[in-house]
Amino acid sequence: MTLTLDQTTAGIDTDLEALAGLDDAALDLLFREARSVNAFTDDDVDPAEVLAAYDLAKWGPTAMNVSPLRLAVVPRGEARERLVSHLSEGNRAKTLAAPLAVVAAADPRFHSRLDTLAPHRAGLADELEPHAERRAGMARTNALLQIGYLVLALRARGLHVGPMGGFDAAGLDADLFAESGWTSLLVLNVGRAAAPGGTHPRAPRLDAAEAVTVL
Ligand SMILES: Cc1cc2nc3c(=O)[nH]c(=O)nc-3n(C[C@H](O)[C@H](O)[C@H](O)COP(=O)(O)O)c2cc1C
Repeated sequence: MTLTLDQTTAGIDTDLEALAGLDDAALDLLFREARSVNAFTDDDVDPAEVLAAYDLAKWGPTAMNVSPLRLAVVPRGEARERLVSHLSEGNRAKTLAAPLAVVAAADPRFHSRLDTLAPHRAGLADELEPHAERRAGMARTNALLQIGYLVLALRARGLHVGPMGGFDAAGLDADLFAESGWTSLLVLNVGRAAAPGGTHPRAPRLDAAEAVTVL
Protein backbone atom coordinates (compact mmCIF):
# COMPACT_ATOMS: atom_id res chain seq x y z
CA MET A 1 0.00 0.00 0.00
CA THR A 2 1.00 3.62 -0.37
CA LEU A 3 1.39 5.49 2.87
CA THR A 4 -0.09 8.93 3.15
CA LEU A 5 2.19 11.82 4.01
CA ASP A 6 0.85 11.91 7.58
CA GLN A 7 1.60 8.26 8.13
CA THR A 8 5.06 8.65 6.68
CA THR A 9 5.92 11.59 8.89
CA ALA A 10 4.50 9.74 11.90
CA GLY A 11 7.04 6.99 11.26
CA ILE A 12 4.36 4.37 10.62
CA ASP A 13 5.74 1.75 8.27
CA THR A 14 3.19 -0.98 8.89
CA ASP A 15 0.76 -2.06 6.21
CA LEU A 16 -2.28 -0.49 7.87
CA GLU A 17 -4.78 -1.93 5.41
CA ALA A 18 -3.64 -5.44 6.18
CA LEU A 19 -4.06 -4.77 9.90
CA ALA A 20 -7.29 -2.82 9.62
CA GLY A 21 -9.64 -5.71 10.30
CA LEU A 22 -9.23 -7.97 13.31
CA ASP A 23 -11.30 -11.05 12.65
CA ASP A 24 -14.47 -11.84 14.60
CA ALA A 25 -12.67 -14.30 16.88
CA ALA A 26 -10.24 -11.59 17.98
CA LEU A 27 -13.04 -9.08 18.49
CA ASP A 28 -14.97 -11.64 20.56
CA LEU A 29 -11.86 -12.30 22.67
CA LEU A 30 -11.24 -8.63 23.32
CA PHE A 31 -14.78 -7.31 23.59
CA ARG A 32 -17.95 -9.24 22.85
CA GLU A 33 -17.26 -12.46 24.73
CA ALA A 34 -14.88 -11.02 27.32
CA ARG A 35 -16.34 -10.78 30.80
CA SER A 36 -15.32 -9.40 34.17
CA VAL A 37 -14.41 -12.63 35.92
CA ASN A 38 -14.87 -13.47 39.59
CA ALA A 39 -13.82 -17.14 39.65
CA PHE A 40 -10.69 -18.56 38.06
CA THR A 41 -9.21 -22.00 37.51
CA ASP A 42 -6.47 -23.00 39.95
CA ASP A 43 -3.83 -22.80 37.20
CA ASP A 44 -1.00 -20.52 38.24
CA VAL A 45 -0.35 -17.44 36.15
CA ASP A 46 3.28 -16.38 35.84
CA PRO A 47 3.80 -12.72 36.80
CA ALA A 48 5.74 -12.51 33.53
CA GLU A 49 2.34 -12.57 31.79
CA VAL A 50 1.51 -9.22 33.37
CA LEU A 51 4.86 -7.78 32.31
CA ALA A 52 4.22 -8.98 28.76
CA ALA A 53 0.75 -7.43 28.79
CA TYR A 54 2.21 -4.18 30.10
CA ASP A 55 4.70 -4.25 27.25
CA LEU A 56 1.75 -4.18 24.85
CA ALA A 57 -0.35 -1.69 26.80
CA LYS A 58 2.51 0.79 27.14
CA TRP A 59 2.09 1.71 23.48
CA GLY A 60 -1.38 3.15 24.06
CA PRO A 61 -1.42 6.94 23.96
CA THR A 62 -1.14 9.23 27.00
CA ALA A 63 -0.95 13.00 27.14
CA MET A 64 2.53 14.09 26.13
CA ASN A 65 3.48 10.43 26.60
CA VAL A 66 3.59 10.87 30.38
CA SER A 67 2.89 7.13 30.93
CA PRO A 68 2.07 7.28 34.67
CA LEU A 69 0.66 3.76 35.09
CA ARG A 70 2.52 1.62 37.61
CA LEU A 71 1.66 -1.97 38.49
CA ALA A 72 2.25 -4.04 41.59
CA VAL A 73 1.84 -7.74 40.88
CA VAL A 74 0.72 -9.60 43.99
CA PRO A 75 1.13 -13.39 43.91
CA ARG A 76 -0.55 -15.59 46.50
CA GLY A 77 1.02 -15.32 49.93
CA GLU A 78 1.72 -12.70 52.56
CA ALA A 79 1.54 -9.70 50.23
CA ARG A 80 -1.83 -10.93 48.93
CA GLU A 81 -3.19 -11.10 52.44
CA ARG A 82 -2.05 -7.55 53.09
CA LEU A 83 -3.71 -6.42 49.88
CA VAL A 84 -6.95 -8.24 50.69
CA SER A 85 -7.14 -6.57 54.11
CA HIS A 86 -7.77 -3.26 52.30
CA LEU A 87 -10.53 -4.59 50.04
CA SER A 88 -14.22 -4.24 50.67
CA GLU A 89 -15.78 -7.38 52.08
CA GLY A 90 -17.34 -8.54 48.83
CA ASN A 91 -14.01 -8.42 47.01
CA ARG A 92 -11.96 -10.37 49.56
CA ALA A 93 -12.54 -14.09 49.03
CA LYS A 94 -12.27 -13.96 45.25
CA THR A 95 -9.08 -11.93 45.45
CA LEU A 96 -7.49 -14.32 47.93
CA ALA A 97 -8.29 -17.17 45.54
CA ALA A 98 -7.24 -15.53 42.25
CA PRO A 99 -4.03 -16.80 40.60
CA LEU A 100 -2.69 -13.25 40.44
CA ALA A 101 -3.80 -9.87 41.71
CA VAL A 102 -2.47 -6.66 40.27
CA VAL A 103 -2.73 -3.23 41.84
CA ALA A 104 -2.89 -0.65 39.08
CA ALA A 105 -1.65 2.70 40.33
CA ALA A 106 -0.61 6.13 39.15
CA ASP A 107 2.78 7.66 39.85
CA PRO A 108 2.31 11.36 40.70
CA ARG A 109 6.05 11.78 40.23
CA PHE A 110 5.84 10.60 36.62
CA HIS A 111 7.57 13.81 35.60
CA SER A 112 10.89 12.45 36.86
CA ARG A 113 10.95 10.25 33.72
CA LEU A 114 9.98 12.88 31.17
CA ASP A 115 13.55 13.29 29.95
CA THR A 116 13.13 9.84 28.41
CA LEU A 117 9.41 9.87 27.73
CA ALA A 118 8.94 13.38 26.42
CA PRO A 119 12.23 14.68 25.03
CA HIS A 120 10.07 16.85 22.74
CA ARG A 121 8.87 18.73 25.83
CA ALA A 122 12.15 19.95 27.30
CA GLY A 123 11.55 21.85 30.52
CA LEU A 124 8.18 20.23 31.24
CA ALA A 125 9.46 18.29 34.25
CA ASP A 126 10.72 21.47 35.91
CA GLU A 127 7.49 23.23 35.04
CA LEU A 128 5.42 20.47 36.68
CA GLU A 129 7.57 19.93 39.79
CA PRO A 130 5.90 22.61 41.98
CA HIS A 131 2.36 21.63 40.87
CA ALA A 132 1.56 18.48 42.85
CA GLU A 133 -2.19 18.80 42.34
CA ARG A 134 -1.89 19.19 38.58
CA ARG A 135 0.50 16.25 38.43
CA ALA A 136 -1.88 14.10 40.49
CA GLY A 137 -4.69 14.89 38.06
CA MET A 138 -2.57 14.15 35.02
CA ALA A 139 -1.32 10.94 36.60
CA ARG A 140 -4.83 9.76 37.41
CA THR A 141 -6.39 10.57 34.03
CA ASN A 142 -3.62 9.00 32.01
CA ALA A 143 -3.12 5.97 34.25
CA LEU A 144 -6.87 5.23 34.01
CA LEU A 145 -6.54 5.27 30.24
CA GLN A 146 -3.57 2.93 30.48
CA ILE A 147 -5.56 0.56 32.69
CA GLY A 148 -8.08 0.24 29.85
CA TYR A 149 -5.26 -0.64 27.47
CA LEU A 150 -3.92 -3.13 30.02
CA VAL A 151 -7.24 -4.94 30.38
CA LEU A 152 -7.39 -5.40 26.63
CA ALA A 153 -3.74 -6.49 26.50
CA LEU A 154 -4.35 -9.13 29.18
CA ARG A 155 -7.36 -10.36 27.24
CA ALA A 156 -5.32 -10.40 24.05
CA ARG A 157 -2.87 -12.72 25.81
CA GLY A 158 -5.69 -15.11 26.65
CA LEU A 159 -6.18 -14.07 30.25
CA HIS A 160 -9.31 -12.95 32.06
CA VAL A 161 -9.57 -9.97 34.35
CA GLY A 162 -11.76 -9.07 37.32
CA PRO A 163 -11.43 -5.32 37.95
CA MET A 164 -12.33 -3.93 41.38
CA GLY A 165 -12.61 -0.39 42.65
CA GLY A 166 -14.00 -1.42 46.03
CA PHE A 167 -11.09 -0.92 48.41
CA ASP A 168 -9.63 1.55 50.87
CA ALA A 169 -7.18 3.31 48.59
CA ALA A 170 -5.63 5.48 51.31
CA GLY A 171 -5.02 2.44 53.52
CA LEU A 172 -3.63 0.40 50.66
CA ASP A 173 -1.31 3.21 49.56
CA ALA A 174 -0.01 3.73 53.10
CA ASP A 175 0.64 0.01 53.46
CA LEU A 176 2.04 -0.94 50.04
CA PHE A 177 3.16 2.29 48.39
CA ALA A 178 4.58 4.36 51.27
CA GLU A 179 8.02 4.42 49.63
CA SER A 180 7.04 4.79 45.99
CA GLY A 181 4.26 7.35 46.55
CA TRP A 182 2.10 5.56 43.97
CA THR A 183 -1.65 6.07 44.28
CA SER A 184 -3.80 2.99 43.70
CA LEU A 185 -6.66 3.20 41.21
CA LEU A 186 -7.93 -0.31 40.59
CA VAL A 187 -7.21 -3.87 41.66
CA LEU A 188 -7.33 -6.48 38.90
CA ASN A 189 -7.67 -10.18 39.53
CA VAL A 190 -6.04 -12.09 36.68
CA GLY A 191 -6.30 -15.69 35.61
CA ARG A 192 -8.20 -18.04 33.37
CA ALA A 193 -11.93 -18.06 33.89
CA ALA A 194 -13.41 -21.08 35.61
CA ALA A 195 -16.54 -22.24 33.85
CA PRO A 196 -18.85 -20.36 34.27
CA GLY A 197 -16.45 -17.78 35.70
CA GLY A 198 -18.64 -16.53 38.53
CA THR A 199 -20.21 -13.91 36.35
CA HIS A 200 -23.70 -12.48 36.48
CA PRO A 201 -25.75 -12.61 33.27
CA ARG A 202 -24.22 -10.16 30.81
CA ALA A 203 -25.79 -6.75 31.29
CA PRO A 204 -26.64 -4.82 28.14
CA ARG A 205 -24.65 -1.80 27.00
CA LEU A 206 -25.95 1.41 25.53
CA ASP A 207 -26.30 1.23 21.78
CA ALA A 208 -24.15 3.49 19.70
CA ALA A 209 -27.33 5.32 18.68
CA GLU A 210 -27.78 6.40 22.32
CA ALA A 211 -24.17 7.00 23.27
CA VAL A 212 -22.77 8.52 20.12
CA THR A 213 -23.71 11.70 18.42
CA VAL A 214 -22.27 12.91 15.17
CA LEU A 215 -22.11 16.68 15.27
C1 LIG B 1 -13.62 0.76 37.62
C2 LIG B 1 -14.30 -0.54 37.95
C3 LIG B 1 -14.58 -0.84 39.27
C4 LIG B 1 -15.20 -2.06 39.58
N1 LIG B 1 -15.35 -2.39 40.90
C5 LIG B 1 -15.79 -3.64 41.21
C6 LIG B 1 -15.77 -4.09 42.56
O1 LIG B 1 -15.34 -3.40 43.49
N2 LIG B 1 -16.23 -5.35 42.81
C7 LIG B 1 -16.69 -6.16 41.82
O2 LIG B 1 -17.09 -7.30 42.11
N3 LIG B 1 -16.71 -5.77 40.52
C8 LIG B 1 -16.25 -4.54 40.19
N4 LIG B 1 -16.18 -4.14 38.87
C9 LIG B 1 -16.69 -5.04 37.82
C10 LIG B 1 -17.88 -4.44 37.05
O3 LIG B 1 -19.05 -4.55 37.80
C11 LIG B 1 -17.97 -5.15 35.69
O4 LIG B 1 -16.79 -4.89 34.99
C12 LIG B 1 -19.17 -4.68 34.87
O5 LIG B 1 -20.36 -4.99 35.51
C13 LIG B 1 -19.16 -5.32 33.49
O6 LIG B 1 -19.19 -6.72 33.58
P1 LIG B 1 -18.85 -7.62 32.30
O7 LIG B 1 -17.47 -7.22 31.88
O8 LIG B 1 -18.88 -9.03 32.80
O9 LIG B 1 -19.86 -7.34 31.27
C14 LIG B 1 -15.57 -2.96 38.55
C15 LIG B 1 -15.25 -2.64 37.22
C16 LIG B 1 -14.61 -1.46 36.93
C17 LIG B 1 -14.23 -1.20 35.48
